Amino acid sequence: MKKLIVGIGGMTNGGKSTLSRSLQAVLPNSCIISQDSFFKDDSVVPVDSHGFKQYDMLDALHMDRMMHEIKSWMQDPQRFMQSQGLTVKCPVSEKGNDIFSLIVEGFLIFNYGPLNTLFDKRYFLQIPYEMCKLRRSSRVYVPPDPVGYFDGHVWPMYLKNRKEMEDTVQDLVFLDGTQKREDLLARVSEDIQQMFTVV
Ligand SMILES: Nc1ncnc2c1ncn2[C@@H]1O[C@H](COP(=O)(O)OP(=O)(O)OP(=O)(O)O)[C@@H](O)[C@H]1O
Ligand SMILES: [Mg+2]
Repeated sequence: MKKLIVGIGGMTNGGKSTLSRSLQAVLPNSCIISQDSFFKDDSVVPVDSHGFKQYDMLDALHMDRMMHEIKSWMQDPQRFMQSQGLTVKCPVSEKGNDIFSLIVEGFLIFNYGPLNTLFDKRYFLQIPYEMCKLRRSSRVYVPPDPVGYFDGHVWPMYLKNRKEMEDTVQDLVFLDGTQKREDLLARVSEDIQQMFTVV
């Protein structure tokens, strides 16, 4: 059995979840682990001097739990998929050369060293400031973004996290998140299918 771990990182509203879901639909025996599922409870996330909750940093996330889930996939992808209610596509060959893919998506997946080392491929979706702000304003988050949150917390933290990532991470493939959904999917899925032939 071969295993491939693909990271779909990027800024908020870059299109990470959209691309990940489409990828999962086209990649056989694939599943998604999303960083957004590991936010700590709102009550323990600190607040800055402007009253903004400090969500856009690793401390706001249960990275230990996320790693545990990824390790559980690594140990037995087939069992992991079944535990998620996903159907494993047969035949799973007796030669042991089936490929299972894990798509890990999130805004800080490359900033966490122990996770970053696990990726076979790293994509980073980026969009311009104005589009990011517009897309974000059309979404309803839990808890909702307070007035001024984008410019007071989200954007400055993005710039900080991005610098930290670029200073430490190699082999990032930057994707233009303003491209059509289907073009992004074609680009990334072709890339990954190619990797299937070499893993
Ligand atoms: N390629 C695209 N072109 C136009 N709109 C897109 C594209 N990809 C995603 N969107 C839209 O942008 C918004 C954000 O997409 P998505 O939820 O996939 O982003 P995200 O990076 O996962 O965001 P979050 O920071 O909330 O996790 C959604 O309204 C989605 O429909
Ligand atoms: Mg998302």
